[in-house]
Amino acid sequence: MSTLDGTVLVTGGAGYIGSHTVRALREAGRDVVVLDSLELGRREAVIDAPLVVGEIADKDLGSATCNEHGVTQVVHFAAYKSVGESMGSPGKYWRNNVAGTAELAEACIATGVHDIVFSSSCSVYGTPEIVPVTEDAAIDPESIYAESKAMVERILYWYGQTSELRSVSLRYFNAAGASFDTRIGEDWTYSINLVPLAMKAVLLKDRRLQVFGDDYDTPDGTCIRDYIHVNDLAAAHVKALDYLGNGGETVAVNLGTGIGSSVLDVLNATAEAAGEEVPYDMAPRRAGDPVSTFADPSFAEATLGWKAKHDLTEIVQTAYTWHKSQLDDGR
Ligand code: WQD
Repeated sequence: MSTLDGTVLVTGGAGYIGSHTVRALREAGRDVVVLDSLELGRREAVIDAPLVVGEIADKDLGSATCNEHGVTQVVHFAAYKSVGESMGSPGKYWRNNVAGTAELAEACIATGVHDIVFSSSCSVYGTPEIVPVTEDAAIDPESIYAESKAMVERILYWYGQTSELRSVSLRYFNAAGASFDTRIGEDWTYSINLVPLAMKAVLLKDRRLQVFGDDYDTPDGTCIRDYIHVNDLAAAHVKALDYLGNGGETVAVNLGTGIGSSVLDVLNATAEAAGEEVPYDMAPRRAGDPVSTFADPSFAEATLGWKAKHDLTEIVQTAYTWHKSQLDDGR
């Protein structure tokens, strides 16, 4: 039996990218089971899949879930992801993101599960010297969060040297947007990212977005990033599981569109979607912000047969529609 015939365990499947990936897997005909602590995820975000509430560090729960659901492959999202929080609470990130993944890997190996797709991040590169960024760029994390992602990549590599485990580490660029049917989207409650904060500024009226610097060496002076639709990310995870199911070796892959957009590009696109300007003020630069970073997507296309399909307009339109629907529903 191919591992593609079995169930996919999605850790963190009640979260933002996880819930979109669960839907993509179900639409691709894969059986799915979600393991999520619901500390940050939302039960209602899990659509058409059973939810097991628990921690990835609980090896017995992980093994039992794999055995009971016939798991043959894993997509591992569960992690803390706040750059700022990580610098103040390193132990929380080492214990959960790093040690928790080691426990999950042990549970997988113990139950004969060898295919893991890992939710990594372009932040493992830190401030890239060359753009577009290729996978052989220097690994130089600039935060404990980013370091935890880089460490997990190496832990999975070494499990691959000492067991049958094989992994695809997907290095996301800037994830944004929401489902086109507005059933799921990002929880903006704790987010400090540009797109959800721009939506708050234009929808809530009680705040103004702070643009962190307009004196960078870019066409409009604001920083450039590679914004990628969450549905494109979800599709890449399905492709990565296919890659492993067909015998692919351990690899790391950048997930981006290859197109750089500035902060003001995002605000202008948001204004277009909202039909009104985003209230913002210029503010000082934010420490640690790279001037410009965007992906070279060619390795993802060559290795996974994946390419982003959605553009910035669709990203901000789906994000705006999602957050407006949440407000209309009183959430
Ligand atoms: C984007 C741009 C800010 C907020 C994120 C994740 C990181 C990784 C990549 C997954 C920057 C500017 C932002 C605001 C602003 N993804 N900005 N005002 O820092 O590129 O990284 O995506 O792991 O983990 O954090 O994303 O959205 O914070 O910033 O001007 O209120 O928007 O300066 O240029 P970032 P971001």
